[in-house]
Amino acid sequence: MKVISVALSLALALLVGAVEYSCEDKQVVSTSYVGASKNVKAETISCSNTLPGYAPLAATDNSTDPSNVCGANCTTNCFYPAGGGPDPNDCAVIADALLYDGQNIGPLFNITANTSGVAMTYASCYTFFLDQASYNLTYCRNDWSTVLNYVAVNCQATQNAHGGNCVATDQRWFIQVQNSTA
Ligand SMILES: *[C@@H]1O[C@H](CO)[C@@H](O)[C@H](O)[C@H]1NC(C)=O
Ligand SMILES: *[C@@H]1O[C@H](CO)[C@@H](O)[C@H](O)[C@H]1NC(C)=O
Ligand SMILES: *[C@@H]1O[C@H](CO)[C@@H](O)[C@H](O)[C@H]1NC(C)=O
Ligand SMILES: *[C@@H]1O[C@H](CO)[C@@H](O)[C@H](O)[C@H]1NC(C)=O
Ligand SMILES: *[C@@H]1O[C@H](CO)[C@@H](O)[C@H](O)[C@H]1NC(C)=O
Repeated sequence: MKVISVALSLALALLVGAVEYSCEDKQVVSTSYVGASKNVKAETISCSNTLPGYAPLAATDNSTDPSNVCGANCTTNCFYPAGGGPDPNDCAVIADALLYDGQNIGPLFNITANTSGVAMTYASCYTFFLDQASYNLTYCRNDWSTVLNYVAVNCQATQNAHGGNCVATDQRWFIQVQNSTA
């Protein structure tokens, strides 16, 4: 299997308060428990909405299906104000489970097109990867792990925040980190 080495750029948009995404018409397609201790809940979900302002790429986008977006840059936006965010230590458990599965199941996973996604929950931490493109995407578990820890640590009460997201430069996908009860 090809070893994928990436240098993610996780630019932090400190002054821009992001809109928290809420999955409309949410359907849980499947549920499993992952990680070394099988204590992280993994769900395949589908929603009916995109991030506000999402503009699909033009028809000249020649991406194949599925399109591999491992290593793609995303911009981190925190949700303000402080209060009710996830405990970064709980998010770290999910991040570790992603690394474990990356080594033991495989580095890649597929995400279904048109606002479907994959969600993970452990204690106070809830994170999901949402595919806003009209075609399936492939992403790396290691990259999600990196983004998750980055957002969890940089968008907490110290930053007057309660979680945040990381939106791909081309907006085809984003990762959100929030409290599991929010
Ligand atoms: C897609 O392919 C067409 C035809 O080959 C080309 O003209 C266009 O520039 C490509 N679009 C992108 C975004 O690469
Ligand atoms: C990500 O951003 C960095 C810094 O701006 C840049 O050097 C790199 O080429 C970008 N990577 C991709 C995959 O676009
Ligand atoms: C992702 O989907 C492609 C095309 O359907 C398939 O070939 C590939 O094995 C899938 N990858 C994973 C990790 O499931
Ligand atoms: C996209 O993913 C869905 C769900 O796994 C699958 O049914 C569909 O065949 C995939 N589409 C393509 C073009 O690979
Ligand atoms: C996603 O929606 C677009 C527009 O309705 C459609 O053309 C495309 O086939 C859909 N993709 C999948 C994988 O269902």
